[in-house]
Amino acid sequence: MTHNLTVLGIESSCDDTAAAVLRCSPPGGEIMSSVVFGQGALHAEFGGVVPEIAARAHAEKLDLAVEQALGEAGCGLSDIGLIAVTSGPGLIGGVMSGVMCARGLAAGRGLPLIGVNHLAGHALTPRLTDNAAYPYVMLLVSGGHCQFLLVQAADRFTRLGGTIDDAPGEAFDKVARILGLEQPGGPAVEKAARDGDPHRFRFPRPLLDRDNADMSFSGLKTAVLRQRDQLITDQGGLYPRDRQDICAGFQAAICDVLSHKTRLALDIATGIAGANPPLAVAGGVAANSAIRSALTKVSTGLMAPPQRLCTDNAAMIAWAGYEKHMAGHADPGDLVPRPRWPLDDQSAPLLGSGKKGAKA
Ligand code: KG4
Ligand code: ZN
Repeated sequence: MTHNLTVLGIESSCDDTAAAVLRCSPPGGEIMSSVVFGQGALHAEFGGVVPEIAARAHAEKLDLAVEQALGEAGCGLSDIGLIAVTSGPGLIGGVMSGVMCARGLAAGRGLPLIGVNHLAGHALTPRLTDNAAYPYVMLLVSGGHCQFLLVQAADRFTRLGGTIDDAPGEAFDKVARILGLEQPGGPAVEKAARDGDPHRFRFPRPLLDRDNADMSFSGLKTAVLRQRDQLITDQGGLYPRDRQDICAGFQAAICDVLSHKTRLALDIATGIAGANPPLAVAGGVAANSAIRSALTKVSTGLMAPPQRLCTDNAAMIAWAGYEKHMAGHADPGDLVPRPRWPLDDQSAPLLGSGKKGAKA
């Protein structure tokens, strides 16, 4: 098997059309290019991702993304040794567009093709950015997802716990909406929280009494809504100070829940792996500096990839494809997209997580 490979990665499982070229040689990879065409503007007026619009936009932009990624990397298809594509989970129209594009390129050039689980892409990113050794614990925390995974190999993941309802990013976005702050809510709430008093309002920290790594965030936004309404009733409106204090109190509750449950997830992982595994975090919410510093207190060697590799991108898909290839996996030319594809099919499915869609 060839160890040095130039891999073309393709990602289209939600609302980002992405392509990347990665030059891989053990133990790492060099990102030659990483192109991401976001679709935010197309979906903005609908308040969420519209699958039909997403699928059409992917179909229109995939060729361009691939062409641009190859151009920026200074190479052509003849330099590519492997094509890796997200083949699930996600919005099926988008996943199909990506898989069809990859299948066409692989067939046309006689290249090996590998289907990558989108969540594996996120979960394996610290191997690319931090040379993380197996095993490690990954907290995947975004607008549509929140789960702890013990990552033991490119094809071996154990889910240690996760949200049973909303993802934290979704809660940040809703709180911003409740307070009249801009979207996406995460950065706006973080900014307002910086000047706020986290002790003025005490918001709930659900499931902390349970001895497992499951979490719940949906009650938090209701508590924020009630507090806002109470202030409006009492004083006729909200002062900037009120918004800052609510944001600080809300963010403190999220930090407490994530820290506490991360400790439990690390304990569970130690029981499985037999040693103390290090901690990694990925997903849009990992951009929050209060959350990062709370997690650093839980595990000093926290691995947090740079923001552009925490959010959806194709470099992570190229890397995960390379790792699978090195582990001996290969897919047929008629690779089939999978709308649902749990990383750990031994664990019970998460109850209501990812309400915004399949994006992670
Ligand atoms: O991973 P991502 O780009 O896409 C999804 O999977 O949704 O994450 C986007 C989410 C949004 O909900 C956004 O509000 C949140 O990440 N986010 C943040 C911050 N930056 C982005 N949440 C908290 N603090 C931030 N600084
Ligand atoms: Zn994702």
